[in-house]
Amino acid sequence: MLRPRRFEHEIDPGPVQIQARRVHFDVSGIPLHWIPGHPVASNVVSLFNVVLPAAERWFVATYNEALPLVKDPRLAEDMRGFIGQEATHADTHDQVLRQYLIGHGIDVQPLLDQVEFVFQKSLAPTSAADPRRRLNHLYDRLWLIAAIEHYTAVLGDFSLNNAWDDHGADPTMVDLFRWHGSEEVEHRHVAHDVATYFHDSYLDRIRAMGLAVALLFGFIQRGARYLTAADPGVEMSWSTLQLTRIRDSKAGLLPRFRTLFGANTLTYFRPGYTPEHIASTAQAVAYLAGSPAARAARP
Ligand SMILES: [Fe+2]
Ligand SMILES: [Fe+2]
Repeated sequence: MLRPRRFEHEIDPGPVQIQARRVHFDVSGIPLHWIPGHPVASNVVSLFNVVLPAAERWFVATYNEALPLVKDPRLAEDMRGFIGQEATHADTHDQVLRQYLIGHGIDVQPLLDQVEFVFQKSLAPTSAADPRRRLNHLYDRLWLIAAIEHYTAVLGDFSLNNAWDDHGADPTMVDLFRWHGSEEVEHRHVAHDVATYFHDSYLDRIRAMGLAVALLFGFIQRGARYLTAADPGVEMSWSTLQLTRIRDSKAGLLPRFRTLFGANTLTYFRPGYTPEHIASTAQAVAYLAGSPAARAARP
């Protein structure tokens, strides 16, 4: 059973200033199965350490390209806050990837190569000479970031409202994903505002969502299968992996695919969609106020 939302009764704090928190996580000594007895849930969540650095550095590079074209000072300020948070997320997950997953002897290079190919090659800025084509290409990438950020906000909301604590999950890993998840909730409106500012198009939004769903689904399926095969403490077939993932989702340790790829995607398709309704800023801000890593963050 998922626990009830903890801060639903609180008043939304309204617009918050988006700024990076210089956190540090000591992951030494944390077992690979950081949710005890749940290797599939542990590995699926750990997988995000592999994909996030490349994806978030691509967000940062794209926003640095777009920022000089923004004339709205409020939006530009939000974008600078977003860039600071995403750059910190990328560096932090990169460090955890090296100290934790690679430290446990998991060879993540084949997965890293695939992720790098997607973000550094396939989604790189176009080399076309035509300025109109270059701008259209930027619009497409900004809408893809907005679609991915819809899911990072949904996953951030999940991180704050799941059953990890009830199953004795490692508190440092829980704080890592809840700190990141809370900042995703905190800045969830930025990418949608940016894409709308540059090119307000329902068709672009839907097209980007199709690609975002395919990327996220493919990444989770491929990555989970790869990590399960690489994990020396687990031996299971593809069908057992899927059944275990479904069982872990029912236990509130992983998001349910039906909700993640079904209901959450349909929400994004609504013409009047706004990111405000998919999570609680009050809950995210309250978590960050008490997060051990965020409290100890260097200014
Ligand atoms: Fe992030
Ligand atoms: Fe984000």
